[in-house]
Amino acid sequence: MNYWDRKSAEYNDKFYSGNRGGLDLKTKLLLGDSKGDVMEWGCGTGEITRRIAPYFRTMLALDSSREMINLAPPLDNVEYEIGDCQESDFGGFDLICGNYILMYCGDLREKIYNQLNPGGRFAFIEINSFHPLAFCKTKIGWIKRRLDISESAHSFDPFRLAREYRSVGFKNVRWRCIGVSSSFFIEGYRQP
Ligand SMILES: C[S@@+](CC[C@H](N)C(=O)[O-])C[C@H]1O[C@@H](n2cnc3c(N)ncnc32)[C@H](O)[C@@H]1O
Repeated sequence: MNYWDRKSAEYNDKFYSGNRGGLDLKTKLLLGDSKGDVMEWGCGTGEITRRIAPYFRTMLALDSSREMINLAPPLDNVEYEIGDCQESDFGGFDLICGNYILMYCGDLREKIYNQLNPGGRFAFIEINSFHPLAFCKTKIGWIKRRLDISESAHSFDPFRLAREYRSVGFKNVRWRCIGVSSSFFIEGYRQP
């Protein structure tokens, strides 16, 4: 059983009960000006999925944990797929997005570029390593283990991440902090 299969039963209570985790703002940021066909990576229990799906023609929601996806709501235009986004090899998307997924993966820039339509957009919410608490939780091994945080979890220097995305040809790459939280939003476009 993988880490997220193990965490699935407590996930919604831990992250979404009472506190909706700023989901309205995150949804607005991820949506941006996108429409058409969207792929979400690391959809988990579908909290972002259910908010985004109504704005798109089709949605492919991918997650490597069967147990997390089992908790996601069935939706008319959403196809759920169990799989590793690092192996994802689809195409034709107007938006590729996710809430806390790049932080568990290696470099996905080429994967994103190749699966977007020309002019398509990427949008992700990730963890900012300049935030002191986030730094401790993602960079210090014994704290990660003590808090039972996924071994693969890491945080980003958003300035650097934006530079790296620009360097492979993405345009209008920009990022912003989400309030005073440890999260930041980053987006960019494949060349038309
Ligand atoms: C922190 S949860 C976020 C879930 C959801 N996006 C949300 O905002 O509630 C991270 C999710 O990413 C999934 N995940 C981690 N690594 C993955 C990978 N390589 N490919 C696909 N999904 C992955 C996990 O199974 C988990 O559901």
